[in-house]
Amino acid sequence: MTETELDAFADVLDGPVYVVTAATAGAGRGAGAPDERAGCLVGFASQCSIRPPRFMVWLSTLNHTFRVACRASHLAVHVLGRDQRELAELFGGETGDRTDKFARAEWVPSTDGSPLLTGAPAWFVGRIETRIDGGDHMGFLLAPTEVSPALRDVPELMRYGDVRAIAPGHPA
Ligand SMILES: Cc1cc2nc3c(=O)[nH]c(=O)nc-3n(C[C@H](O)[C@H](O)[C@H](O)COP(=O)(O)O)c2cc1C
Repeated sequence: MTETELDAFADVLDGPVYVVTAATAGAGRGAGAPDERAGCLVGFASQCSIRPPRFMVWLSTLNHTFRVACRASHLAVHVLGRDQRELAELFGGETGDRTDKFARAEWVPSTDGSPLLTGAPAWFVGRIETRIDGGDHMGFLLAPTEVSPALRDVPELMRYGDVRAIAPGHPA
């Protein structure tokens, strides 16, 4: 199957998109600790086990988020509402190599220090159990450690079809 044929298949799926964020172990944890945070829009993600609960997120090895995630213990996975276009453009259309995305979005640290986007209707944080080489993306297997208190009233989730026209901030 060619790349184009697989793209056509993916277009039909029109799955939800996520914003995945990470912070280096020292971020925000005291004097002298480096504050490095990252996050990007992600379409390649899915729950992959029920018992134990596990969720897989795939990050392009070229992305700033990938580099920070490799030094992080946890990742935070957020869904967006369909009307949150600005957040999607910030996290999908800009790169942390050039822009401090967290100066332009409201966030709070999770228990482990991962940045939680306060505008996101639902999120969970997962401990990185292992990484899997998937090609030009690396899979991060997450064991959930914290989940947003309640799913706020989400009329419709943002999906791939809503954001496919955003030019990625980093070439894949
Ligand atoms: C619709 C859409 C889906 C995307 N899916 C992924 C993905 O699954 N994994 C990934 O690493 N990047 C994905 N990207 C690309 C990143 O979100 C984008 O390159 C971002 O600017 C990278 O930011 P960073 O360099 O700060 O990590 C997607 C972008 C768009 C527009």
